[in-house]
Amino acid sequence: MLKPFYLLLVCFIITADAQESLRKYADSLGLNIGVAIRESYITGTGSSATTHNNIVKTEFNTVVCENAMKSQNLAYSKTTYNFSTADNVVDFAIANKMKIRGHTLVWYRQNAQWLISGDREMLLANMKYHIEKVMGHYRGKIYQWDVVNEPFDEAGSGKFRTDNNPWQTVIGEDYIDSAFVYAHAADPGCKLYINEFGTTFPGPKSEALYDKVKEMLDNGIPVHGVGFQCHEGAVEDTVAAGLYAGIKYNFNRFAELGLDLAVTELDIQSSDPKAQADNYRVYLQVALSFPQCRTFVIWGVSDKDSWRSSGTPLIYDGNFKPKPAYDALLAVLKDPTPVVLVDRRARRLTKAGYLVYDRANNTVRVNDPSSNGPAIMEMFDLRGARIAKVTLRANNPLPLSSMKTAPGTALIRVKDEVVRIARDK
Ligand code: XIL
Repeated sequence: MLKPFYLLLVCFIITADAQESLRKYADSLGLNIGVAIRESYITGTGSSATTHNNIVKTEFNTVVCENAMKSQNLAYSKTTYNFSTADNVVDFAIANKMKIRGHTLVWYRQNAQWLISGDREMLLANMKYHIEKVMGHYRGKIYQWDVVNEPFDEAGSGKFRTDNNPWQTVIGEDYIDSAFVYAHAADPGCKLYINEFGTTFPGPKSEALYDKVKEMLDNGIPVHGVGFQCHEGAVEDTVAAGLYAGIKYNFNRFAELGLDLAVTELDIQSSDPKAQADNYRVYLQVALSFPQCRTFVIWGVSDKDSWRSSGTPLIYDGNFKPKPAYDALLAVLKDPTPVVLVDRRARRLTKAGYLVYDRANNTVRVNDPSSNGPAIMEMFDLRGARIAKVTLRANNPLPLSSMKTAPGTALIRVKDEVVRIARDK
């Protein structure tokens, strides 16, 4: 018979062990799983503040200030910077052993008026001053900064943004290069990001971003990473939409330039919790498939505080209750099953066939009644390394048992599902 003390101890150990969190599994995968902080909660005393702060430190290992590091909220005048709100978040993060992303130094919105007033020489001088001041204040504490935010046109044309953007209209396109040069000098150890929305998938805006970062690299401008904001809406059927392949194809081009990637502001609008969960799952699976993508940030905790709250885009509801999207992320982190992707040419999705996993025989085969044409299948492990590349034919199932674990990787498994694929003609 166990004495009460030991019984208590056993109960405690069981409960402690049962404590699951996104953070726990992300830590073990080396993933910076982050969240944008509603700053007022950090020093708040109400029950929402307490719940918010508990979720942040339990579930995430990385934070971003939703607004406090924007120049409007820091740089009241050139001589009166006030870091106190942002410092509270930074102190909270350090106390809870979390990483801090910096957001953002040069943007067309939420600016201190003095910063964007003047001629070209003045704006360049102000920009340099501001970057040195802010990055200097946080030197060594912030592991990556969004140096330039949203430089491209809202409509997605691929042109540089001129609307309301004095950086572009007064200085010209080279403001972007200058910002990165100043930022690198201000904190040489920090990873410097260009951050954009509407660039999750291939398209004119994404092409323009690609061309710009390629040009920067060719010219020796110190850009280290591309941030994909990923403010999206849920697609109904992620398989039919080729969601995984589309994002993977697009991210991959940037990775091949030698840049790091980050999902920086993810939120996915939907009124259907199941579809939303499935979309969150896919974004995380894509991120995990890239060794270059070690940062995955969700733009807020609770739907009620979201900047797009009417679209209920976050993983906690208005009462801070985890939604199916939370469960989906947890499931991926616990069991990061490699995702199957066939051929990188996701643009050919109209020519797609389907890949079917046959659980009984542990085989995969192409299911495409219109053709026996071969498909090149690539399998990636959870860190993005390619484990296998094989040619599949419709009438020729591939036994998965023939695929051995690569050294240091998990065994390949394919979930019982149909994955949309791109296929050679
Ligand atoms: C948003 C904040 O969430 C809002 O609270 C604020 O009113 C406006 O800015 N892209 C960005 C973020 O880079 O800084 C924006 O954050 C959302 C879109």
